[in-house]
Amino acid sequence: MPVTEPDDLRARLDAARSVCVLTGSGISAESGLPTFRGVGGLWRTHRVEELASPQGFARDPLLVWSWYAERRKAHASVEPSPAHFALAALEARIADFTLATQNVDSLHLRAGSRNVLELHGKMREAKCNRCDERRPLDDVLAALDTPDVTLSDPNVILSLSKDGRSPLLHHCGGMWRPDIVWFGEALPAHVLEAAFDAAARAELMLVVGTSGLVQPAASLATKRCTRAYVVEINPEETVLTAHVDRSIRARASDVLPELAR
Ligand code: APR
Repeated sequence: MPVTEPDDLRARLDAARSVCVLTGSGISAESGLPTFRGVGGLWRTHRVEELASPQGFARDPLLVWSWYAERRKAHASVEPSPAHFALAALEARIADFTLATQNVDSLHLRAGSRNVLELHGKMREAKCNRCDERRPLDDVLAALDTPDVTLSDPNVILSLSKDGRSPLLHHCGGMWRPDIVWFGEALPAHVLEAAFDAAARAELMLVVGTSGLVQPAASLATKRCTRAYVVEINPEETVLTAHVDRSIRARASDVLPELAR
């Protein structure tokens, strides 16, 4: 699909009454966060089944928590990119604008986006894996980061849980885990439904910084957006490229700020 000037795209944006955007880790790459499958990507340097699956968590919750503690620190140390801010600016201009993100880094919200659907969860929150109660993830990390708790000591849970003091145990008997959708788990139904509705309404669909390899998120850019003109923004070709109306081979920040100008 030929790469063409954004002018036509801006005209489509100005004409669209309903816009939906799907983003992936590529948009946060410009903030300095690793993607998943790119060079130095998280799944190239870590074993997904150990860190992002309920089985991995059951096997070694401390390993999982120490990894999310690292990621949480990285998220807090970066700022939204110009592309994040551009999407927030576009939202302010378009009545029906929905941003469905696969990212759990809260950078869209930090950039000022409001109508954000977090398809794969949010790292700023923890939830009990028995009663689903929620609390700020940083509270759990703070409780884990006390003198007598070292994340590297596998016996912490066992020793502390004996008298119910484990910072990872909830009073209902469940265990606190990051509010992330792990492999093999369903997406939050109300969030997915809202994303499907937004894609079905959309006259223009922007697909930014995703490899399109994970379902059902990727279906938003294909079978779910039946009325939309679909535009992919990615420096590399993806499995979605053959299905979109236009593929712009560029970084998110090379195109979106220009569109929002
Ligand atoms: N601008 C736009 N796209 C970019 C940029 C950039 N600056 N840098 C990289 N990309 C593109 C890459 O070319 C790649 O196609 O971002 C994409 C990132 O793909 P993945 O690493 O597969 O990440 P993502 O699509 O977000 O993964 C989807 O998989 O592991 C699960 O739950 C995790 O939400 C994640 C899901």
